Amino acid sequence: MLQSAAKVLSFASATSVSRGIEAGIRHYCKNTPTKLRVSQALSGAELGSNIKVQGWVRSVRAQKANVFLHVNDGSSLQSLQVVASSELSDPLLTFGSAVEVTGILKKSPHQKQPVELDAKQINVVGECNPVDFPFKIKERHGLEYIRQFPHLRCRTNAFSSLLRIRSEATAAIHSYFKDNGFVEINTPIITSNDCEGAGELFQVEPSGPDYADGENFFSVPAYLTVSGQLHLEVVSGAFSKVYTFGPTFRAENSQSRRHLAEFYMVEAEISFTQSLEDLTKVMEDMFRFATEHVLAHCVEDVDLFHKHVTPGHRDTVDAMIKNSFPVITYREAIDILRRSSERFAFPTDWGCDLKTEHEKYLVKHCGNIPVFVTDYPYDLKPFYARDNQDHPERTAAAVDLLVPGVGELCGGSLREERLNLLSARLEEAGLEDVYSWYLDLRRFGSVPHGGFGLGFERYLQCILGVDNIKDVVPFPRFSHSCLL
Ligand code: 4AD
Repeated sequence: MLQSAAKVLSFASATSVSRGIEAGIRHYCKNTPTKLRVSQALSGAELGSNIKVQGWVRSVRAQKANVFLHVNDGSSLQSLQVVASSELSDPLLTFGSAVEVTGILKKSPHQKQPVELDAKQINVVGECNPVDFPFKIKERHGLEYIRQFPHLRCRTNAFSSLLRIRSEATAAIHSYFKDNGFVEINTPIITSNDCEGAGELFQVEPSGPDYADGENFFSVPAYLTVSGQLHLEVVSGAFSKVYTFGPTFRAENSQSRRHLAEFYMVEAEISFTQSLEDLTKVMEDMFRFATEHVLAHCVEDVDLFHKHVTPGHRDTVDAMIKNSFPVITYREAIDILRRSSERFAFPTDWGCDLKTEHEKYLVKHCGNIPVFVTDYPYDLKPFYARDNQDHPERTAAAVDLLVPGVGELCGGSLREERLNLLSARLEEAGLEDVYSWYLDLRRFGSVPHGGFGLGFERYLQCILGVDNIKDVVPFPRFSHSCLL
């Protein structure tokens, strides 16, 4: 059915275009419907035109003389109302089916939608048995329910809103860096470095009989990247301001609500830094820019979350944007935790890692807005973190950004740029051979520099108020999950 329709349409276009060219004007046959996305149709710009939309039926209601459909194609949360005479009705026209509708776009007499499509032709392109389809018409399914259907959940309002927000937030982050003079670097996915224990590793080796001899394909063990930081440091040594935004892998055996095995990380590296403030400024500016962009460009999608999925969260987001982010040292954080009457499961002694429960408490304590924690104990941080050379505590110039509902969103540090200090630390860890190339960066034109990484899914959790990280990623990968 679709094929023959396509043939007729292409014939009409070819003839009219050639006639137009003969007459010196390029116009198309009046009868050829203009293919529009639902969002374009809803804008009303093509009122009175013969148009065609293609999408999936979100509701269907038959009355005596007419059939009313709502068609959605993912271009907006709103669906396009289609009004058709009951002669065009078809038993296959069900909730979930894929359709192609041609007709005249008219002003709607109803207040709820500005336009409607007066259908002249409806083709059911793909059937959908509404009894077997896991989502039901007019029901608002919870995120936990739709998570069971990773192959179908993009057909729901909530998840399609999430995917549009995710796409817009991605674009905003790229814009932020572009507007601020950063160069995007595609750091490798397969690497032999483990970024000094940033996370558990997935090893990469080929499969198949040709590779059964146990030799490493790359001559050395190779892994999926846990961070692009070290490669960014290489390029920041020539470009000053660089960033990367890509998939990152950690083989954490965790079922937590904020850990994935595959997630997206935004990482920036900046040369000629003076202090941690140079980093916190970029983190805070980027957060604010991306959030304001999403709020302005995804109004309906964000509203869906803030009204129906996570009611009340909008106030938290507004407070995050309005207030500047406080900065406390790790020492101050420990003092706050120790003074609190809360009973924590994990210790709060100086030198202990901050756990999620501590991070969430600190955020609440600071007014439920993002808070920077700086200057962690030197021994808690990887070899590349810059030694503050302070006494007696001995801290490193590292910083985490903690946010409401999530805890740690960003982790970063100034990098140890002093060759003698860095090589002493690598030698102590027995790593000076593996990282001889890294030491070269300190031998040839070394400058003070630093950077950070932001977990993109955690960012989405934070601005939308979503509790489980698996609900903000198109296809979640975590330990013991079945892959699609
Ligand atoms: O704090 P992390 O481990 O920092 C680094 O990897 C640095 N090398 C980054 C840098 O300085 N360029 O990770 C950065 C952020 C965390 O703050 C967290 O938001 C996110 O990445 N993250 C995860 N997100 C989802 N699932 C996981 N398993 C994550 N592990 C870290």
